[in-house]
Amino acid sequence: VEKDGTRVFDLRMRAGETEFQDGVRTPTWGFNGSYLGPTLRAQRGEKVRVRISNGLREASSVHWHGMHLPARMDGGPHQTIGPGSTWAPHWTVDQPAATLWYHPHPHGRTEAHVRRGLAGLFLLDDEKSARLPLPKRYGVDDLPVVVQDVRFDGSRLAGDRKLMQNVGFLGDRTMVNGTLRPHRRVHDELIRLRLLNASTARTYAFGFPDDRDFSLVGTDGGLLERPAVMDRVQLSPGERAEIVVRVRAGERVMLRSFPQGNYGDAWQERFGGGDDSFDVLELRAAERLRPSPGPPAELAEPELPSGEEAVRGRHFDLKRSGINGRSMDMGRIDGTVTRGTTEVWTIRNTNGMPHNFHVHDVQFRVVEVDGSAPPPALRGPKDTVFVPHGTTMKLALRFTGPADPDTPYMYHCHLLYHEDEGIMGQFVVV
Ligand code: C2O
Ligand code: CU
Repeated sequence: VEKDGTRVFDLRMRAGETEFQDGVRTPTWGFNGSYLGPTLRAQRGEKVRVRISNGLREASSVHWHGMHLPARMDGGPHQTIGPGSTWAPHWTVDQPAATLWYHPHPHGRTEAHVRRGLAGLFLLDDEKSARLPLPKRYGVDDLPVVVQDVRFDGSRLAGDRKLMQNVGFLGDRTMVNGTLRPHRRVHDELIRLRLLNASTARTYAFGFPDDRDFSLVGTDGGLLERPAVMDRVQLSPGERAEIVVRVRAGERVMLRSFPQGNYGDAWQERFGGGDDSFDVLELRAAERLRPSPGPPAELAEPELPSGEEAVRGRHFDLKRSGINGRSMDMGRIDGTVTRGTTEVWTIRNTNGMPHNFHVHDVQFRVVEVDGSAPPPALRGPKDTVFVPHGTTMKLALRFTGPADPDTPYMYHCHLLYHEDEGIMGQFVVV
């Protein structure tokens, strides 16, 4: 912490080697360490500054996924950090407690940089969330769960896309926090899992083999107004969910990803990974468990726009060839929004393959899915939403600025191969 109260973080992007499998050293990239990055954490209202140095041999960038901040600090493809250079964005945290994350966003190279290991969590806290009776001892009953799928090609991490995998690279096993076959010993009755799908293309449907219920307490941008009880939660690349699950003394329970209901047609189920299932993380409960409070009936005040106040609508048609027929162009601004206004964006996918949709700078409300009210898992603050083939979604987004007519924010498909191929556009706030 600096004299004026600014919280400072240091990140160094570097190449290294990681021993995922005993005795096998795999070339990887990481922030500070050799794979993934440290969990950063800050309070609402706090000033933060991150000093990033690029120790790689190529240019990259670091984007704060889910963070509301000035466009110049966003870390998108315009805020390049050259090899050997540094970048020190700073901003004031002005949004509710949430599980956000950070990852590179270099133009056309995002998939490769994330897949090699450049990703980390950025947790935000606020006064209200600090007082809630929710599990909140980090690493004890509040566990980060960064899920990635990988395939090993000898000692290397494979990155090739198989024929017909038009979603991008799909691995044949998963890791949590960079660990294969992970397990975690727990000593509390209620365990909060902060799930991040940090995979580049794969969508998961998380749940437990005995179909036990859990409480969804948070989505991408923070806590729900009240917990939603369910037995599966689907996350496409970039999405987060905070769930609270009850464990019984002495049991071992596997967090699993199941074949997915709303994934698309039989072709996508098969070649896009919708039929796959993985054992993701084993929780091993101690013989005696500490009693846990909660979850409470009420979690957070709503801060999302309703959509009724919208001054403008826009349409986004997702296709392999781009959005609304246009592929990403770094020199073209696709939209201008007015600071302080709410818009309703309609996202449509008739492309025959799954896509999702991520918007920088804002947390939005999902207003409608195919003309109906959204399911409970889509009722919280979102910055990324899964849009399977045949779906139309309406989102309400409020842009609070600051204005910067010269620096765009991005919106794009977060299946990173699709993003790199140009399913992305840019908007400015004026
Ligand atoms: Cu998580 Cu534009 O990205
Ligand atoms: Cu896509």
